[in-house]
Order: sequence, then C-alpha cells, then structure tokens
Amino acid sequence: MNRLGKIAVLGAGNIGGSLAQRLAEMNVAREVVLVDIIDGLPQGKALDIQQSAPILGFTTHVTGSTSLEAIAGSDVVVETAGLARKPGMSRSDLLEKNAAIVRGHAEAVRASAREAIVIVVTNPVDVMTHYFRAVSGLPAPRVFGESGTLDTARFRTFVAEALGVAPRDVTGFVLGTHGDTMVPILSLTSVSGVPLARLLPADRIAQIVQRTKQGGGEIVNLLKTGSAFYAPTASQAELVHAVATDAHRLLPVAAHLNGEFGERNVTIGVPVVLGRAGVERVVEVDLTPEERAAFVASVHAVREDLAILAKGPAAGSSAA
Ligand code: 2OP
Repeated sequence: MNRLGKIAVLGAGNIGGSLAQRLAEMNVAREVVLVDIIDGLPQGKALDIQQSAPILGFTTHVTGSTSLEAIAGSDVVVETAGLARKPGMSRSDLLEKNAAIVRGHAEAVRASAREAIVIVVTNPVDVMTHYFRAVSGLPAPRVFGESGTLDTARFRTFVAEALGVAPRDVTGFVLGTHGDTMVPILSLTSVSGVPLARLLPADRIAQIVQRTKQGGGEIVNLLKTGSAFYAPTASQAELVHAVATDAHRLLPVAAHLNGEFGERNVTIGVPVVLGRAGVERVVEVDLTPEERAAFVASVHAVREDLAILAKGPAAGSSAA
C-alpha cells in the first residue's frame, strides 16, 4: 500500500482519539500527530495508542502535541476540533464557536501545510468545510468534509437490519447537508443491485429515512454528554484510506460546487471520486424531482448558515 508521510488530527477528543487509533492500526502513514490545546490529552492518547503497536503490529509513529507547529508538512490534516452537540442542540447551534476554532487551524494549514489534503469533520460540517477552504486558500479539491459517508453508513445499517442482510451489501447515497435536511437518495439505493423499493414497503422505508436523519441525534440523546464517534471515525478513516491509496472511490462527501447540481459557491454532500489529489470530480447523478427539491432545500439550509457566519464575529477572511 502507498503510505502517507504525516497525518495531523486536530482535536484529541473522542473523535480525534478514536480516529488516531484507527489510522495507526490501518498503517496508512509513517506518522500520526494528534494536536489539542489541553496539555496532556494529545500526548497521553498518542502514547497509549503507540503502546498497542507491539501487539497489533503497526509501524506508524503516533505523537501528541499542543502546538500547531506539529502539523507542518502534513500530507493529510483531519479537522475534528470544536464543540460537540449536547441533547437539544442542532449542528448549526455550534456555528460561531466552532468557526473561531476552525479559523485558527485553517490559518495554520495555510502557513505550514499548504500541500495537505484537508478533511473537515467539525460541525456544522458543510459550513465548516466551506469556511476552512475560504480561510486556508487551499484549492477546492483538497478541502472536503465528512458527512455523507457517515449518514450513508447509518442508512445502510438500518436497511440491513430491516432486511436481515449483510450491511456491506446495502449501497446507496445520502446527499445534501449533514443535518436535518439530509437527502437519502432512495432511487440509488439497492441491495447487491436489487432496488430497495422491491424489497421493503414504502412506509418502512420512510421510517428508515426518518431514523437516518436523526441518526446523530439518537446517539447524542443516549450518550447525554457527547456525540457519536465510532461510526464517524470509521467513515473518516475510509476517506483517509481512499486518499492514501489513490483509490478513486465513489463516495459522498461535502464538496465545493462550481456549477455542479446547478449550484455555485456552496459546500454540500454530493457523490465524488476520491483519490490522492482529493476530490477528482463531482459525479452529477440524476435525481428524481422529489430528491432534487429536497437537495435544493438542503443547499438553502447551508447558505443560511453561511450567511450567519459571514455577518458574525468569525467573519473576516470571507466565508464566501
Ligand atoms: C454525528 O452525526 C458527530 O455529526 C456527527 O454523529
């Protein structure tokens, strides 16, 4: 396997720690550095992960740091830093606070990791991905967000449970924003090629769509003090792996649109081909009129958050 040199994971919370562990165990890079402002947290988690290497057999060197200087020369930067949702909060409630954090990190990438591919995870992820790209000045193909891969994994899980089939045999796309207006594309969902509509009645599919839309919130309500991290980091690791191995995977990510799907200057979940250069191209799949309308509503929700951000204290280097 092609190996990356360095992956920086910004934020050593539940997501950052779990992701660093997955990346080390996948052995996709020579070095993984965890960065967080809380002294001891990134160093402690990194050391703990490193001490599993003799048992698990990986050769990745895992370190922790409180300094953004540690990201210099990274091949991939994963932005996980920021507040997570608590019960009753929407992802958009995190907007201003997380934008301030993302801003500092985007400036650090611009200063010392200009060649990196950046994967943004911080919520609200479509907006934060857009903002990271604008502040960092990196080319759009090299800054994308994790959203659809996670929502699609949840959707596939629920479909697989309903049908009693292997989760990996369920394929499909959840597009649009990683939020209440996400759009499960039922016309493109199948089980080993068999269209979903031939396998499940419409009312059961509607229940699964609803549960998928609330998939993150369901876990927030169960955990009470934080949000999901096992499925999110599995999805992030899948994206890093696609980049590291130049795999040309067709996956849904939050990507910057420049006319695709009839939209410009917005970042939202769409199918893309993903490889070592980042987003190689956006794949404009046909949507039914209902799916198209739902996608447009989703774009509208992201634009509303972008407008709030452009007016708020985190504005400056243009959220446009
Ligand atoms: C979720 O949906 C953390 O946004 C993430 O669980």
